[in-house]
Amino acid sequence: MAAYQRPILAANWKMNNGPTAASAFLASYLGRYARRDDRTVILFPSALAFAAARSAVAERPDILLGVQNINAAEKGAFTGENSAAIALDAGAGFVLVGHSERRHVFGETDADTAEKVKRALAHGLVPVLCVGEKIEEREAGETDAVCVRQLRAGFGGLSAEALRDAIVAYEPVWAIGTGRTATPQDASAAHQAIRAELRTLAGEVGASIPILYGGSANASNATALLAAPGVDGLLVGGASLEAESWTSICNAGS
Ligand code: PGA
Repeated sequence: MAAYQRPILAANWKMNNGPTAASAFLASYLGRYARRDDRTVILFPSALAFAAARSAVAERPDILLGVQNINAAEKGAFTGENSAAIALDAGAGFVLVGHSERRHVFGETDADTAEKVKRALAHGLVPVLCVGEKIEEREAGETDAVCVRQLRAGFGGLSAEALRDAIVAYEPVWAIGTGRTATPQDASAAHQAIRAELRTLAGEVGASIPILYGGSANASNATALLAAPGVDGLLVGGASLEAESWTSICNAGS
């Protein structure tokens, strides 16, 4: 079974924090956040700030690092892209796959996410597969169906063994960066549907894959979201950019 201590608190910095800002942020955050063994913290800096972040957490093995994206190809003539092998070599342990901005801003398809998950796993990089519905899909009652479709696309056809360390993030598109958070009840309902599909896809392993909630999570709602049944952690964008709020999110919950 995946060995992450829960809750998992993950920070997606998106296109923020260059090397200078990342170093300054981490100096402040690490001074505030004392290691806790009852949770897991993962940071997703920009690719160009990755080395700075890695060096800033060198003395803090409790702070894990991932990249925000990889290209699905093994290597080659893909100007501007980073591969799973490059991410691993740079020190990443995790990669976000299928984030809503990749899907809806950059046109990434279900098939693309499937290729990226496979490539990540082939290199021992843990995929954090992001799924979630758009507002019109929620209003049409399609929330569970969208999540199930995206899960099947990303994880279908893989062995339970391959998915042993995988992570899922439920991120309703309408809640991302909008200040409109899903209620703990909304999150729980979606997480339940996701859990059922993970069990179908990967049996016992699927029963233990962590499911994070993401979408306008912040220092004020983190404790309530983490207390919602089925929520194993948070994937945080905006509120992870400020050391004080990110520290309080990292200390949220029991
Ligand atoms: P947000 O972003 O917390 O700013 O809504 C979450 C995400 O996109 O992972």
